[in-house]
Amino acid sequence: MIKGKIKAFILFAVLSHLQGIAQKTPQLGKDPIDKVINAMTPEEKASMLLGSEMHGATLDNQPRLLVPGAAGGTFPIKRLGIPAAVLADGPAGIRLDPKRPNDPKNYYATAFPVGTALASTWNTTLIEEVGRAIGNEVKEYGADILLAPAINIHRNPLNGRNFEYYSEDPLIAGEIAASYIKGVQSNGVGTSIKHFAANNQETNRLSINEHISQRAMREIYLRGFETAIKKSQPWTVMSSYNKVNGTYTSERKDLLSDILREEWGFKGFVMSDWFGGYESFESIGTTASNVIAQIEAGNDLMMPGMKLQHEKLVQAIKDGTISSVSVNNSIRRILETIIKSPVFKKYKYNNSPDLKAHAAITRQAATEGMVLLKNENNALPYSVSNLPVAVFGITSYNFISGGTGSGDVNEAYSVSLLDGLKNANYKIDQKLADLYIPFVQDEAKKESERREKSGGILAVPKKMPELELENSVIKEKANTCDIAIITIGRNSGENADRQISEDFYLAQDEISLLNKVSKAFHAQNKKVIVILNIGGVIETASWKDKVDGIVVAWLPGQEGGNSVADILSGKVNPSGKLPMTFVNDYNNHPSAANWLGTPASNPKDVSYEEGIYVGYRFFNTYGVKTSYEFGYGKSYTDFKYSNIKLSSTTFENEVTVSVTVTNTGSKAGKETVQLYLSAPAVLVDKPTHELKGFAKTNILKPGDSQTVSLILKIKDLASFVENKNAWIAEKGTYSVQLGSSSNDIRQSIEFNLNQENIVEKVHAAFRLDEQLKEMHSN
Ligand code: BGC
Repeated sequence: MIKGKIKAFILFAVLSHLQGIAQKTPQLGKDPIDKVINAMTPEEKASMLLGSEMHGATLDNQPRLLVPGAAGGTFPIKRLGIPAAVLADGPAGIRLDPKRPNDPKNYYATAFPVGTALASTWNTTLIEEVGRAIGNEVKEYGADILLAPAINIHRNPLNGRNFEYYSEDPLIAGEIAASYIKGVQSNGVGTSIKHFAANNQETNRLSINEHISQRAMREIYLRGFETAIKKSQPWTVMSSYNKVNGTYTSERKDLLSDILREEWGFKGFVMSDWFGGYESFESIGTTASNVIAQIEAGNDLMMPGMKLQHEKLVQAIKDGTISSVSVNNSIRRILETIIKSPVFKKYKYNNSPDLKAHAAITRQAATEGMVLLKNENNALPYSVSNLPVAVFGITSYNFISGGTGSGDVNEAYSVSLLDGLKNANYKIDQKLADLYIPFVQDEAKKESERREKSGGILAVPKKMPELELENSVIKEKANTCDIAIITIGRNSGENADRQISEDFYLAQDEISLLNKVSKAFHAQNKKVIVILNIGGVIETASWKDKVDGIVVAWLPGQEGGNSVADILSGKVNPSGKLPMTFVNDYNNHPSAANWLGTPASNPKDVSYEEGIYVGYRFFNTYGVKTSYEFGYGKSYTDFKYSNIKLSSTTFENEVTVSVTVTNTGSKAGKETVQLYLSAPAVLVDKPTHELKGFAKTNILKPGDSQTVSLILKIKDLASFVENKNAWIAEKGTYSVQLGSSSNDIRQSIEFNLNQENIVEKVHAAFRLDEQLKEMHSN
């Protein structure tokens, strides 16, 4: 009995002692963060600054806590109560492995429309809803931070990742991103706005050195980030792979600390892109990136985290060659984010998000992003008839829902155009479909095997050949069918840029199909509609006259076929507008002159000689004709603009512009009012007009009107003046132009700014390097 008591006493004493020790170890969330940081060993500190995936620093032998298919995670330190936050790709939905070993359950995610499609909606409320749905899947699949949105500017149409990005214009990019972030983060999960900044080509993406003026950085390449970050505070920012003016963005203090944090007030942490700061993939296993410079610049987390980086950091922390203040600041920012995350809150995710509800959202978003480029003699909408539809083009049968690479979502299904038409009760010419289907299946199989062998998700997608149809077959279809639909498809993705021939321009087999079908169907007085199932711009000028209707469906996500049918049938009146220009000729783009950089055989340097004159800023200012201009998109109805008003003709703190939009046609529809501003250009040259606001109306019934108001703030009037390091609004007369596209201005009005206004003095950044100086002196 006494022995038993002694035993119990000893046990009690040991437990209390252990508890005492445990209490002394600070715990994240219970103790001040700085106490937790101070309790870390140099090894643990280094681990916190690196992703947990590959650096092998399994300090306390914990299993990796990642969700299968997630891109990476932060490092867990159990003894300090720090869990691993899971980082998963986007942007078109969460990217995860749909299958897990020894698990019969599927983990499919919803494939939403790609970035260009979302931007084409010009509907920030809708994008917030898309974000909410995506964020719900992030949360319910056990992830903490979505690696999205991606908002680099479409400097050139051949960028292989333009489909993930939004626009050639920073205002639309920034506004769409802000809404997306708000939506995702409303679930209590984070985002990572990427790729910060000027990640405008995939070729040599790990080493390319972009030479960009401070003004172009500020006005074009950073402005969208600035808007999104100020409006919606993403939890994290992902720095880009490229260099700007000689230095990796992940090593630029001016970018990551002075601008991002001091000027814009960003509160979260910055992570690198995967292996950002390494010169090449070959160097990854044998060197460390310049982690010290990255941390000192304010790049807090290096992804995915490599063993050699760990060694380098541990050494630097021990011998003081890295500032302990910078190290602790970075860790603090990471921990402050982890505390907010579902994993820290031990959220019980259900692995069963409501995919059905999300399918309805993606269908609606894709439909609203579709752009009607041409509608000769009201060829559309096209009602269901007794005669069949002749469906041409291999892409009709193998519709592309999204691009390749990290932005590719693993969805449960994807609705092809054929199925979408059938679902909408259109009668299809089955004999024609039967010719296509086996051919397409065979080609698709070959293509997927080829990709599997040559790099998996990073393999470059190739255009598949068109089925060669006998003339007699096409003629027969023109006799027996009511209408022809031809889909032209393009896919692209991470790690490679698009090509000029057989990609930007149509390939010969596509031209021949278009020619033959148009000739045969027009001979029978029947219409030909082209669906563009593309992620970025293709050439349209040379063939658009041959067809009656053109719909840009983009890469519309998993409900694509249904969304197209909604437009074709008129169930939804198209209201998408182009967030970029469709040029007449690829070489019309000023960036074409130095696209991919020099030397051409293995580009190292790219000079952004066009400065701020990107997209419509260039075409409009220099009077270059385009095939379809920025902001363009037709409707099945017409809108009249009237009664433009200003709150004041003298600018004080802000000015409100209002206009009444009336549906003067016969179908209900929505219109996007675009506000372009022409500013006085005495101090510096300026584009003739720049987008400074937009608003989408509600659905207006025929005869209905809505008055929309747009507010201009002083920064909207300002340009960046390099020699003063300041945003300056020049005094003088400003012309406000409201239009239905950048070339279709319907109403304008003027106001005055009576005095020059130095809106914001900022840090000197992106100092000109030798190449830029030379560029400027020429
Ligand atoms: C891409 C990022 C992506 C990351 C993680 C990189 O190759 O550039 O956009 O988030 O991989 O998968």
